[in-house]
Amino acid sequence: MLDHYFLNFALHLAVENEGKTSPNPSVGAVIARGSNLVSWGFHEKAGAPHAEIVALHRAAERARNSTLYCTLEPCAHHGKTGPCVEQIIASGVSRVVFGAVDENPLVGGRGMAALRKAGIQTDQIALRNIDEFYKPFFRTFKTMRPYLIAKVAMTANGIISPADRNSRWITNETSLSWVHQLRASCDAILVGADTVLLDRPSLTVRADGVERKPWRIILDSRFKLHPEDCSLLENDAPILLCGSRTAPANKEEGWKKYPVRVIRFDGIQDLMSTFYEMGLRKILVEGGQKIFTLFHVAGMVDEYALMIAPRLLTGKHFLNFLAGPEQSLAETDRYKVDQLLDLDGDFLMRVAAPQV
Ligand SMILES: NC(=O)c1ccc[n+]([C@@H]2O[C@H](COP(=O)([O-])OP(=O)(O)OC[C@H]3O[C@@H](n4cnc5c(N)ncnc54)[C@H](OP(=O)(O)O)[C@@H]3O)[C@@H](O)[C@H]2O)c1
Repeated sequence: MLDHYFLNFALHLAVENEGKTSPNPSVGAVIARGSNLVSWGFHEKAGAPHAEIVALHRAAERARNSTLYCTLEPCAHHGKTGPCVEQIIASGVSRVVFGAVDENPLVGGRGMAALRKAGIQTDQIALRNIDEFYKPFFRTFKTMRPYLIAKVAMTANGIISPADRNSRWITNETSLSWVHQLRASCDAILVGADTVLLDRPSLTVRADGVERKPWRIILDSRFKLHPEDCSLLENDAPILLCGSRTAPANKEEGWKKYPVRVIRFDGIQDLMSTFYEMGLRKILVEGGQKIFTLFHVAGMVDEYALMIAPRLLTGKHFLNFLAGPEQSLAETDRYKVDQLLDLDGDFLMRVAAPQV
């Protein structure tokens, strides 16, 4: 019971800081003696001390004979900081409890083995919410690209934009607040150039008490967007503009005097590699139809956050969530529903894409 209590406290710390630590995972740690809290810590950002080390420093001598709880298996390798297990062993803690075995090939059970070898009782307590929390991070070791979540606001008949292209308020305020929390947990928010032109979004995180500025990525293969049409310049969160390597030369000239990073790429595999090298591990894809279709057809969407408003829209010039090749039902997958939430009358359905 106490183990679950302290491990969940550690998870709370990790969740609070999610979105700030990439390419590292967000980790929380708690030190307790019996039912008494001794200290706590979280990994603030890449290059900063790991959560366990922050908690151990705070505890100092009080760490001796106590239990260290951490959401993720402590590391045993040299990264930007030294191996955590060495400092844990030196601190005199008598027991370590962690939530998830780190699927990073550099760790993968080595931390647990090193602690046990040093005579420290080390227990993994599997918690479903911890496994869920690290799922995107672990997935990136298999795919070597960022984890992609497609967030779609649509009517109950699957329409993301009516004929007048005014899609801004399909879903309600509660859904919007939920989206801001989701944005805060991501490293970047990605949209197509037409969505920037038509919706004039800001793509920032607007949530009480949350200070977060994920990258805003615009896919604009032909560099048709001009700075004066770019609503994203109205605030200072970073912007990455991505055009095709084959777009006419000098098309990006107009952006030079703006605080915008401009890149050219050859296809989406190349783009994903660039994002990965930049340290991006979780990207929220927010549309529009061409962009959703691009990633869906490429099989790159790891998770769909479908926000469904109980509205039905008629017409023939609207946009469906997905275009793409004609399919028969036999060619489609049945997705696993991970979460179903009532957001004051809108419905959020989170589904995981089948993993290959
Ligand atoms: N309800 C929702 O959740 C939601 C969310 C966002 C947007 N929307 C709506 O969706 C509509 C816009 O959608 P849309 O489909 O017209 O446009 P879009 O997806 O927003 O943007 C298309 C842009 O992406 C570029 N692009 C396409 N494939 C690319 C690739 N492989 N590499 C790089 N760039 C690529 C296109 O370039 P080219 O010009 O070369 O084709 C075009 O500039 C708007 O009405 C908006 O309101 C709804």
